[in-house]
Amino acid sequence: MADDCFGHPRLAAIYDPLDPDRSDLDAYLRMAEEFEVHQVLDIGCGTGVFALLLADRGADVVGIDPAQASIDVARAKPGGERVRWMCGDATALPPLQVDLVTMTANVAQAIVDPDTWQKTLRGAYEALRPGGHLFFETRDPAGRAWEEWTRGKSHRVAEFPGFGSVESWVQLIDVSRPLVTFRWTYVFAMDGQVLTSDSTLRFREREEVETDLIAHGYMVQDVRDAPDRPGREFVFLAGRP
Ligand SMILES: C[S@@+](CC[C@H](N)C(=O)[O-])C[C@H]1O[C@@H](n2cnc3c(N)ncnc32)[C@H](O)[C@@H]1O
Repeated sequence: MADDCFGHPRLAAIYDPLDPDRSDLDAYLRMAEEFEVHQVLDIGCGTGVFALLLADRGADVVGIDPAQASIDVARAKPGGERVRWMCGDATALPPLQVDLVTMTANVAQAIVDPDTWQKTLRGAYEALRPGGHLFFETRDPAGRAWEEWTRGKSHRVAEFPGFGSVESWVQLIDVSRPLVTFRWTYVFAMDGQVLTSDSTLRFREREEVETDLIAHGYMVQDVRDAPDRPGREFVFLAGRP
């Protein structure tokens, strides 16, 4: 089941304008250019921002996400017909032989269930051609990102085309490491609708992720810093031998 912030049609529709700065994707684009990729699988593609950037550059892209409403937003965007969109996760993929698998914007953390995480790593591995790469990020638990997830630090009111003014904020619900649960609230001025969306993220240690990758047959080639969030993320580059 997708979190409402990705799976509710109204919230999926404002996902992009709520967070328009996607400089986090620059590192992913550089990676795609560095390896001159032609075929890409984007797991947890959401509203398709990265998949469409790659398709614009001529790549053949499959975008998969369990949130149907986000897939619908992605499909309706200009160029959306150039991407193969799928509703689901990487535990049951069709046969693929891609050069690169990505999970942008901390999708890895949204995969909370340990069994689903292992099956996702296996699914990504099987979707890669030999010599292909898996590239993804996950927040370093030492950065304690959740300490920023307060109403005071997140409250904003913004105008969105088609929706008018929307007030939003996040509140921390529970920190039981490695799991952190929080709630977004959205108030739509145009009709007074109030929507909430609860999410839980898993904060994995670097060693844990490396061990999991190696157990699935990957070679961990690099663990980088996210250029836009120095010291806050682990960015993994793993290869299928
Ligand atoms: C923070 S959003 C990132 C979306 C997109 N990658 C981006 O860069 O905008 C996290 C996404 O992970 C998806 N997700 C949650 N659980 C998943 C799973 N088990 N497999 C794949 N994607 C999942 C959510 O539906 C959501 O679209």
